[in-house]
Amino acid sequence: MLQTRVDSGLDGVIVADTVMSEVDGEAGRLTVRGHGLQELVANRGYEGVAALLWEGYGKGGGDESAVREGLAAARVHAYALVPRLLAASAGLSPVEALRVGLGMLPDTDPTPHHFLVCGALPVFLAALLNVRRDLPAVAPDPSLTTAQDLLRMIRGQRAGEAFEKGLDTYLATVADHGFNASTFTARVVASTHAGLISAVLAGLCALKGPLHGGAPGPVLDMLDEIGEADRAEGWFDEAFATGTRLMGFGHRVYKVRDPRADVLKAAVARLPSTAGRLAFAAEVEKGAIAALRKHKPGQRLETNVEYYTALLLEALDIPREAFTALFAAGRVAGWCAHIFEQEKGGRIIRPQSNYVGPRPNLAA
Ligand code: ACO
Repeated sequence: MLQTRVDSGLDGVIVADTVMSEVDGEAGRLTVRGHGLQELVANRGYEGVAALLWEGYGKGGGDESAVREGLAAARVHAYALVPRLLAASAGLSPVEALRVGLGMLPDTDPTPHHFLVCGALPVFLAALLNVRRDLPAVAPDPSLTTAQDLLRMIRGQRAGEAFEKGLDTYLATVADHGFNASTFTARVVASTHAGLISAVLAGLCALKGPLHGGAPGPVLDMLDEIGEADRAEGWFDEAFATGTRLMGFGHRVYKVRDPRADVLKAAVARLPSTAGRLAFAAEVEKGAIAALRKHKPGQRLETNVEYYTALLLEALDIPREAFTALFAAGRVAGWCAHIFEQEKGGRIIRPQSNYVGPRPNLAA
């Protein structure tokens, strides 16, 4: 018989087995294909994590150099689409423009589609940021990694090891994270056999929301509004009193600190001239916790990945309106892995709802 208990937000509902990643919300641990997050990002860059995620599906997975070559070739291929993208996306934000860009990729493109989407997003993003500054698009360099090339295409020259490593750590850290909203969305679309490009486009649309991947830009807006560390607690008092959501705080699964926050905080600390900003951010965190204790005693609220994402991307000189688009350029590797897994063994995802509307009068 159909159960009628509604699990709002699918809280705690398990919808699939996966080998991709596990989010342990009680212990604050993220495991990606058998590797703990800290160990993973210490030993692998973005291409290495993508190769790991894609292993076992015959898509170049398991072989980091094949992945690196596939992504580099796809970046060169996608660059040919940049003039059309720029013409079609005038006036759109970077993430809205990426939606257009993914929509332009034909299902018939002979490039393996996971390489195509993962190669296209950084190329499109760099060109979109350049046109906003009245700069020409910069062609990709296939000898570089995704992170190296993305920063080079944005800056017009190599950014230097510290910055390239910072971006690589970011892309690797956010590549996969269990059944988050965008990954689940991508899997729903993949379950209909609509194809990888459509599934990735759907994932991007889910990521765009401020409760998911749209949070880091507003984190910086919040830090700007707070301005001085000694104003933080008062600012949060007001936020709790008015029911304002604290951006970069809270998580559905983590009951303790999001482990990605610490990995990204360490990555910020490795960049030059960030000590003052980090100290301010730490004071703001303390202000939020102090205000939380007063307004919602007993409730936990920790910073999530987006809080230190904001500081890292700011230190990399990425404009805040591009943060969500950059998140997509990392998470896309995970979406592809989940799409492979879904396509290989999954059934069409088709849950049911509990009808609470009026019913026809069958007796009449
Ligand atoms: N600020 C203030 N209160 C919060 C916040 C927050 N950021 N997050 C949760 N709460 C409170 C809620 O008000 C609620 O309190 P109540 O029980 O007194 O009513 C309680 O915590 C539970 O909140 P829910 O909305 O039910 O939690 P849910 O699991 O649905 O939401 C979410 C998770 C969307 C991430 C939420 O914490 C949030 O809105 N955070 C801010 C946006 C953000 O940073 N998003 C990025 C998340 S990480 C990612 O997706 C990559």
